[in-house]
Amino acid sequence: MKTKTKMILSGLATYVPGLSKRGGTGTGGSVSARYCYSVWLRHLVVAGQAGITRCPEAVAELGPGDSLGAGLAALLSGASRYIALDVIRHADVSRNIEVLDELVELFRARADIPGEAEYPDVKPYLDDYSFPGEMIDEETLARSLEPDRLAAIRRCLRSADGGSDSPDADAPVVYRVPWFDASVLQPESVDLVFSQAVMEYVDDLPFTYRAIYDWLKPGGLASHQIDYKCDQTADRWNGHWAYSRPVWHLANRKRLMRLNRKAHSDHVRAQQAAGFWIIGERPIEDGSGLGRDELAPEFSHLTDEDLRTSGAHILAMKPP
Ligand SMILES: C[S@@+](CC[C@H](N)C(=O)[O-])C[C@H]1O[C@@H](n2cnc3c(N)ncnc32)[C@H](O)[C@@H]1O
Repeated sequence: MKTKTKMILSGLATYVPGLSKRGGTGTGGSVSARYCYSVWLRHLVVAGQAGITRCPEAVAELGPGDSLGAGLAALLSGASRYIALDVIRHADVSRNIEVLDELVELFRARADIPGEAEYPDVKPYLDDYSFPGEMIDEETLARSLEPDRLAAIRRCLRSADGGSDSPDADAPVVYRVPWFDASVLQPESVDLVFSQAVMEYVDDLPFTYRAIYDWLKPGGLASHQIDYKCDQTADRWNGHWAYSRPVWHLANRKRLMRLNRKAHSDHVRAQQAAGFWIIGERPIEDGSGLGRDELAPEFSHLTDEDLRTSGAHILAMKPP
């Protein structure tokens, strides 16, 4: 009962400016260029371990948050197009340009990927945080850092509200907010879709994984880092699975971003149902969560693995 009261108060706290971590004044880390550089290069390195040798051509991101920096890092790694899809317009032109300028310096320096010492909570973890020079070779870097190309990216960020709804289909950056319809992107038009700390907020997972599947070219990759934790709504990391649906709804009814409370097996199942092959899973284990006897009835389907998996990176492929 004490925990439920705490959660309801925590839900109410989202109305008080300054108290909410995710109440609309900031989404996480993408305000920082180093964070964006780290996140993008981790997705790229993990995709490299699954067999890709170069940065994919067309990259889309779900939920970029406070800046488009992770996708801008993709453009500087050799991608030619980046499409950002969000449900709330968190990013703005001046922050995007600032982040781009800092990213250019990081790529010019071939800086190592900021790792666990700087970002202990950012996943996926890598064995090696050196700059992935074999995937982003000198020629690619020289091309992507050319002054004309950087000017084109800056122009695009400034135009049409920061890249959104750009009339030019070949624009390097497109920022579509809100997106609710899979037709926002052409079928089979992108090579990689990635997300960082987003899929735990998506209401309709079957629809969203299906849309991602449709946008990808055959053989394309989906790379998602997902956090299954309760985001401070309970004392234990998976305490949100103890609340009945009405209690959860009451506590969260005015949150801008509400956790979907899905577990690892739910995400894997939804992606497989969309047609994906799961080609890599990097679960984060935490044995300190609730036991089976403490779950609300709607979570009785969770597996033992779900009960100890507090987050995961999932790499999936659309069959070639
Ligand atoms: C916790 S923030 C993470 C932001 C950023 N990826 C980062 O790592 O800092 C979650 C983001 O997901 C977005 N989001 C929530 N539901 C979404 C959906 N269905 N499609 C796209 N983005 C969504 C939110 O608006 C927000 O930008």
